[in-house]
Amino acid sequence: GTPASAATEQVTLEIDGTRVTVAAGTSLMRAAVEAGVQIPKLCATDSLEPFGSCRLCLVEIEGRKGYPASCTTPVAEGMQVRTQSPKLQELRKGVMELYISDHPLDCLTCSANGDCELQAMAGVTGLRAVRYGVGGQYGGAHHLDSAKDESNPYFAFDPAKCIVCSRCVRACDEVQGTFALTISGRGFASHVSAGQDQPFMESDCVSCGACVQACPTDSLQEKSVLEWGQGEHSKITTCAYCGVGCGFKAE
Ligand code: FES
Repeated sequence: GTPASAATEQVTLEIDGTRVTVAAGTSLMRAAVEAGVQIPKLCATDSLEPFGSCRLCLVEIEGRKGYPASCTTPVAEGMQVRTQSPKLQELRKGVMELYISDHPLDCLTCSANGDCELQAMAGVTGLRAVRYGVGGQYGGAHHLDSAKDESNPYFAFDPAKCIVCSRCVRACDEVQGTFALTISGRGFASHVSAGQDQPFMESDCVSCGACVQACPTDSLQEKSVLEWGQGEHSKITTCAYCGVGCGFKAE
């Protein structure tokens, strides 16, 4: 091919049978949006750098083994990508079962009810019982009794509802440039911590709220919402799939 600057090089690929042309370096997830395809996701957002932790956005690529995360896999010329298959659905459901096994099932009384991406993804992946907060078949819950951090006057952090997606950590770094939050520990013991496992108010937190906006669950929640219920967070949706307004298109 002709050498071109990385900024202008275009790549054409197919996603679920739809041809799409995007800039080289674009992630499969963003290319899918261009093709009108929504891939389930929890740790990726439209604005933050991809993190690749939740494994919900797995796809199949013709001629390649395995199920790469679409949020961290760049496009390549001629790629044929599938975002929906029985195998992918099974893998995503398994991922969601793990999350839910370690998450309170108080959806109906949770202040994020109807505005929770974990709940939305449970619905998308077919864990319907969880959408309605009647779980119980999923045991686990190793850190459900971790203490809530109420030290910040504007928001609370409930580790029990955290899925360690790192969106708050990335929002703190990328949006605010504060670097107050980190992920400590490894594997199942990993958790979000402010500073050196300090209360938020003793860390470098400047109370900007970027982390609260980024949180997909009710783990980081404005205190006004906790006290008065959802206000400006409510979403109006005409999606027939559920009332969450996540923008996911049911096939
Ligand atoms: Fe890609 Fe979470 S959205 S791994």
